[in-house]
Amino acid sequence: MVFRLGRLTPRRFLFFTSAGALFFIFIFSLTPITSPLPPYTGPHEVGILDVETQVQKRVIHDATLKSTGGKAFELNTLAITLYYPSSLPLASPSKRPWARPWLPQPVSLIGEGYARLAGVPRLSFVFTFALWALGSSTVIPGVVDAPILSGAEKVLGEEGAAVGGFGKIMSAAEQEHQELKRDEGFGTLPCMVFTHGMAGMSQSYAHYLGSIASHGYVVAAVEHRDGSGPGTIIHYPDGKERKVWHMKLEALESTSPMTDLDLKAAQLNFREAEISETIKLFAQLNAGEPPVVNLKPHSLRNALPGFQNRLNLSAVTVGGHSYGATGAMQALKSAGSKEMPVYGGIALDPGKGSGPLNEDIDVPILVMQSGEWTEKQTKFYGKGWHFNVVKKIVESVREGWFMTLSGSAHPSCTDAPLIVPWIMKMVTGTTLNSKVALHEYIDTSVGFLEYLQTGQKKGVLESGVTNAEGPFKHDDPREKVQGPHGADWEIHAVPGSGST
Ligand SMILES: *[C@@H]1O[C@H](CO)[C@@H](O)[C@H](O)[C@H]1NC(C)=O
Repeated sequence: MVFRLGRLTPRRFLFFTSAGALFFIFIFSLTPITSPLPPYTGPHEVGILDVETQVQKRVIHDATLKSTGGKAFELNTLAITLYYPSSLPLASPSKRPWARPWLPQPVSLIGEGYARLAGVPRLSFVFTFALWALGSSTVIPGVVDAPILSGAEKVLGEEGAAVGGFGKIMSAAEQEHQELKRDEGFGTLPCMVFTHGMAGMSQSYAHYLGSIASHGYVVAAVEHRDGSGPGTIIHYPDGKERKVWHMKLEALESTSPMTDLDLKAAQLNFREAEISETIKLFAQLNAGEPPVVNLKPHSLRNALPGFQNRLNLSAVTVGGHSYGATGAMQALKSAGSKEMPVYGGIALDPGKGSGPLNEDIDVPILVMQSGEWTEKQTKFYGKGWHFNVVKKIVESVREGWFMTLSGSAHPSCTDAPLIVPWIMKMVTGTTLNSKVALHEYIDTSVGFLEYLQTGQKKGVLESGVTNAEGPFKHDDPREKVQGPHGADWEIHAVPGSGST
């Protein structure tokens, strides 16, 4: 034995680890391994704000944590990241503002979270280091606490800012109009709640969500406290904090023993409560009172009063990826109720192991799957192939779309393939360029959100069914339709296709 433990003196240990660290830094600096996030795709500058607010305390499930004895599913505060269109002029690419580091802070919390998730909590320094090496140079574009796009500015933009005097009259008229709207109780910007995947975080989708915001939508990405993420900190109004780590079944205690499906049901119910609270927060921001108290430490808070009378509370959607897509579809079950006033949903790769999918949906839905998700089929909770289960649900909805973006993989809608393109390409085997994939997802999503407002179909949504059988069609070549950025989509179901 060359390296007996006795010989691993602290000094030797330091030497080896720092040599290892230097080696990694050397490799990473040689390889252009990380890329900056691209600019958002829409016409507006994007404002970004982390908000945490107190909500009515409730316990979603009675399970406790073995380690602390505390309630595992107690909802105390809601944490979201808001992405919204701003009235600030679009900066040129070289002067692109950045809102904050892409990695949530502190990085060590997330590193420890992923180490626990991987079942090797002792190696948390390795995870923290890897995250730091790959993610620390990445920033999220946007302006923290920027003023929200105002109704007046939208008019100015459309009428042309050159006619100064006329513009002023227009904005005065718009202001009067605003007074009217105030009475009606809603503004013009549609809203979306977005829920992340298993082991994901609210910031893992910055490009997708920021781009939707840049098209004129107020998007709230929820940071779930259901124990599905790597780690998150709850900030209580009295200044106390509580860390929520990734929860595994073995870590929980309950009066009646929990199964894996019970844990998922508890987490999905927790998420549903957080989605409902997010919509209540939209309503509170729109009403302007009581003023939202932001519990996030060091968070700026000038922009929020500007949200008064700006949000269209009749135009709220819910979207999600993977576990979050399963959660979004669950939330759609009570769409239109007081607790869940949503009028449509977007599901990206609805989970294959996140629990059964809700089949009772009667608002429009867009389900987009990655190539990987569609090609690799698994049986789904005793109901047959996952693909067929999803298709049946979409076909039972009055206005539902189900489609696959060819050549993409499960993480293709996240920021990961933009930040570490070749690592992700190697790991996931995607054939579609990662920027193109995201642009396709964004344009199709925005097209769907516009359809909800105008009733007009654009882009891929105009297409009929190209391949109803998906991965089970083996004989003829599988027909596809080209998206706005040249990628191939397979359309499996469109409104009306189920009834024939
Ligand atoms: C709010 O959204 C609804 C539903 O799309 C739409 O009918 C209404 O015109 C919108 N209101 C405003 C003020 O934009």
